[in-house]
Amino acid sequence: MTATVTVVGSINMDLTVSTKKIPEKGETILGEEFATYPGGKGANQAVAAARLGAKVNMIGSLGNDEFGSSLLTTLNDEGINTEGVTLVNDVATGIATILVSDNDNRIIVAPGANKKVSPVVVEKYKHLIIQSDIVLLQLEIPMETVIFTVKLCKEHQIPVIVNPAPYQSLSQELIENVSFLTPNELEVEEMQQDTLLDSLKDKLIITKGEKGVGYYQEDKEQFVPGFAVEVQDTTGAGDTFNGALAVQLGSGETIEEAIRFANASAALSVMKFGAQGGMPTRQQVMEFMQERKL
Ligand code: RIB
Ligand code: NA
Repeated sequence: MTATVTVVGSINMDLTVSTKKIPEKGETILGEEFATYPGGKGANQAVAAARLGAKVNMIGSLGNDEFGSSLLTTLNDEGINTEGVTLVNDVATGIATILVSDNDNRIIVAPGANKKVSPVVVEKYKHLIIQSDIVLLQLEIPMETVIFTVKLCKEHQIPVIVNPAPYQSLSQELIENVSFLTPNELEVEEMQQDTLLDSLKDKLIITKGEKGVGYYQEDKEQFVPGFAVEVQDTTGAGDTFNGALAVQLGSGETIEEAIRFANASAALSVMKFGAQGGMPTRQQVMEFMQERKL
C-alpha cells in the first residue's frame, strides 16, 4: 500500500557555505564553496517521503519572491501536491544560512513566510489532513499551529509525528495528543529538563546520528543500529529519517522495520550535498539494505 503523507511545515532556501573551519567570535575566515539548495525541515521531509513513493501533500507558506517561486517549482517537480502551499505578499520566503564542515552543520533559520502557517491555514486544508494515513510536523512554523494540527489529527484518529526541531519546550497538550516524537540526542536532553519523559516514553523515537535510533517497547529501551557511510553533508539527514519513517509507519510497518528503513534512507542522503540531494528512491534504499546485510 502506498501511504498518503501530509506535511505541515516550513519551506526554506538554504544558503550554504562549506568550510574547513568554523569562525570564532569576531573572526573572518575564507571558506570553500557557496551554493543555494532547497530546504526547510517541512519541505525536506515532504521530498523524502515523495521520493520513497508516498502520495504527499504539503501545507506551508512562501513569500511572493524569487526563492518562493523556485521552491514551489521544486516541490511540484517532486510530485508533491502543493495545493496547500500559499504565496504570501510582503514577507520574505524563509531562508537558512548553513555552515557545513567535516561531519557537522550549523544552521540559522530566518522563518519569514513560515510564520504565516496559522491554524486558519490548516483548517482551510483540513480535507488533505483527513485523507492522510499519517501527518508529519516540525517546529519551524508557529507552535499554536503544531498544537492545532496534532489535536485535529487525534480527533480524526490519524497518526501524527512531531519532529521537535528546532527545539522549543513542548506543552502537555502537544505531548498528550501526538503519536510519535522524534528528537535527536540534544533535543531529548532539552526535553528532559522540561517534561517528564516517563509519561511519554512509548511515543519517543530518538535519533543518534550514524549510531542509530532508540525507542521504547514496554518500558524497555530498544536500539536499531545505523549505517556508517562516507559523509558529504549531514544537513537534512534527520528530515530524511522522518520522511521515511512516516511513509513506512503510514503503510503499516512495525516501528522497528520502519526505523531500519528510515536509517538506511538517512544514510544515503548524507552522501550528497544539500538537504534534498542524496535523498533516495525506494529502489535505492532496498538495494542499499540488501548490500549491507552481506
Ligand atoms: O534540517 C535541515 C533544514 O533545517 C535545512 O534545510 C534548513 O532549511 C533548516 O530548516
Ligand atoms: Na544530502
